[in-house]
Amino acid sequence: MNPARIEKFARIADALRCPLCGAEMTLQGASLRCGRGHGFDIAAKGYVNLLRRAVHDDYDAGFFEARSHILKAGFYRHVLDALLDALDGAKLAGPVLDAGCGEGYYAKALAETLDVPVIGLDNSRDAIVRAARGGNGVCWLVSDVANLPVRDGAVGCVLNIFTPANYAEFTRVLAEGGWLVKVVPGPDHLVELRELAGERLRHASHSNRRVVEHLERHMALERRLRTRATFDVAPDQVDDLLRMTPLLFGVDTAELPRDRVHSVTVDAELLIAR
Ligand SMILES: C[S@@+](CC[C@H](N)C(=O)[O-])C[C@H]1O[C@@H](n2cnc3c(N)ncnc32)[C@H](O)[C@@H]1O
Ligand SMILES: [Zn+2]
Repeated sequence: MNPARIEKFARIADALRCPLCGAEMTLQGASLRCGRGHGFDIAAKGYVNLLRRAVHDDYDAGFFEARSHILKAGFYRHVLDALLDALDGAKLAGPVLDAGCGEGYYAKALAETLDVPVIGLDNSRDAIVRAARGGNGVCWLVSDVANLPVRDGAVGCVLNIFTPANYAEFTRVLAEGGWLVKVVPGPDHLVELRELAGERLRHASHSNRRVVEHLERHMALERRLRTRATFDVAPDQVDDLLRMTPLLFGVDTAELPRDRVHSVTVDAELLIAR
């Protein structure tokens, strides 16, 4: 195995704990091992699977492939830029943990600019296998946000981007003064797709009020930043757009009049908390 794929885990091993028993883990050869005999191998592709059981849900390989095309096309670049701005100059006390990193768009970009290690974690193996493609400096983990394989106070920043939060875990793993940056959809997010799906959607309108209230029960919200941009959509991008968003989970997208999609708005709010 390429030694770089193991060495990157050496940089974060002292931030990790066993997801099964909570004991400290160390890097031994090409495995992460706890003192109680639980071991997790570093896969040749450069990630570690810490889940004993696979997760099967709507987040499948097709979802991540479609999302990856849309991210590569730059439709979320302004969200990434807002995130980079938010972290610019932040003195981080430890690694960045992208909790629910998907196919890794944000984690990979951060690993290229930050001087602390970046951990990308998702409970979908499909997401992590795609994220790890081509080799890169991020430490990829298949694991659950509800049971983070991370020691108390070991990370400087938790990112939680378009993904459900677990604040008990986030506050446990954050170092004193560490940051949470949670990214949530803004009011106009994918408004063109919402209009297209109309009454087929589970939730007709969108509000972040409850999300913000929930966050504020656990952490101090310091800043809210909104970033919004509208893009032209080429006909061959429509399939990917309809496939890459949880908004349309449960909707039969084959029924939608897709030739009406000519533009799409990506509207996001960054909630920055400590
Ligand atoms: C909408 S996607 C966002 C992915 C990525 N942050 C992005 O913006 O492209 C939501 C992600 O959350 C992950 N996810 C959902 N529940 C999770 C859990 N309990 N633990 C870890 N990841 C989870 C899914 O597998 C999926 O990758
Ligand atoms: Zn263990």
